[in-house]
Amino acid sequence: MQKNMIIINANELVTCSGFRAKSGGEMSELHIIENGAVVIEDGIIESVGKTSAILKEYDEANYEVVDATNKAVLPGFVDPHTHFVFGGYRAEEFSWRLKGESYMEIMKRGGGILSSVKMTKEVTEEELYESGLNRLNSMLSFGVTTVEGKSGYGLDLVTEIKQLKTMKKLDKVHPIDIVSTFLGAHAVPKEYKGNEDAFIDYVIEEVLPIVVKEDLAEFCDIFCEKGVFSIEQSRKLLTKAKETGLKLKLHADEIVRLGGAELSAELGAISADHLLQASDEGLALMAKKGVVATLLPGTAFSLRAEYARGRYMIDNGLAVALATDLNPGSCFTESIPLIFALATLYMKLTTEEAINAFTINAAASVDRADTIGSIDVGKKGDIIVLEFPTYKFIPYHIGVSTVEKVIKSGELVFDKTRGGKI
Ligand code: NIG
Ligand code: FE
Repeated sequence: MQKNMIIINANELVTCSGFRAKSGGEMSELHIIENGAVVIEDGIIESVGKTSAILKEYDEANYEVVDATNKAVLPGFVDPHTHFVFGGYRAEEFSWRLKGESYMEIMKRGGGILSSVKMTKEVTEEELYESGLNRLNSMLSFGVTTVEGKSGYGLDLVTEIKQLKTMKKLDKVHPIDIVSTFLGAHAVPKEYKGNEDAFIDYVIEEVLPIVVKEDLAEFCDIFCEKGVFSIEQSRKLLTKAKETGLKLKLHADEIVRLGGAELSAELGAISADHLLQASDEGLALMAKKGVVATLLPGTAFSLRAEYARGRYMIDNGLAVALATDLNPGSCFTESIPLIFALATLYMKLTTEEAINAFTINAAASVDRADTIGSIDVGKKGDIIVLEFPTYKFIPYHIGVSTVEKVIKSGELVFDKTRGGKI
């Protein structure tokens, strides 16, 4: 496979240029080059500019050439919050929710996350791997080149490790890069009901050290929520995780305003996610501390909840990222175009803000803004070519992918013109 590539004649080369999260008004800047070109050598972006200037310096004959005439070219999307490795499905639960039962009611009577935990324990490692692989292939077709994936459907040592090891194996074979997050405190197992403190101690003493020793995760996350884990329990686990070298994320203020946003700022988390109920004070603290607000409008849509205040957050100086939250319960979708549509139409982000939210800010949400998320010299050659001449088609073509080609580290890994195959 050739890893030296030159993309030329892009009608719009949307670079999203930058090496850190864009916040507030910066999120409107896409840094577009008209009739642009990108040179990738050994998988890394070597040069970016106007096609005419690039072709004076570089000889096409030495590269695999992608002609992007009449097409928009962007950085590959980063999906910074998913739970894509799980066993079984919860289609039945979806139908209960349609009849009026709430997500938390189902969870309280032992369904929800706990039923996925049961099914994840039951499936073989091969089944877990195969289903994860299929989901990654689907994500790739939507233009995703890096994804964050969480454990959390094990809750015990053996199954948490099984999920994390599956992600590690998938990362080795699949073009999409996987950022692993340890979410051992995702729900309270039945045997610990009413004894949540003891469960947090179990996670700290028995599971976290192995995850760290075997280098299975980069982040630690927790479902900080009324009826799940309190602020104090979250603080305890996350503080320990940080001491052992993991970076932090939180499922914060999703259903009840508990103060997860405030906690994320206090602990110096990289991102706080969901935030449907986050307070003005909590958001102000996040802005001050540079915690990325990772918003998941697909979940609000699927739960028929109110959307997070994306517009307010950007207007108040936060860096907003977007993610699918792909999981078997609250939001079973890996559809990037659906999230674009919801973020623009319902959270009132502009198209430009949404694109930065799914590229450079999503990269910042997984602490990789220095290596991915924009078309800048020195970054990985992770790039998508659209079927259309402008990025404006992304939310406009509602729920339908506009991605024609996906390039990962300078290699063509998806091509719709060839039925997806390479
Ligand atoms: O991000 N809120 C908690 N965790 C997931 C849902 C997981 C599930 O329902 O299986 C979320 O929405
Ligand atoms: Fe989640």
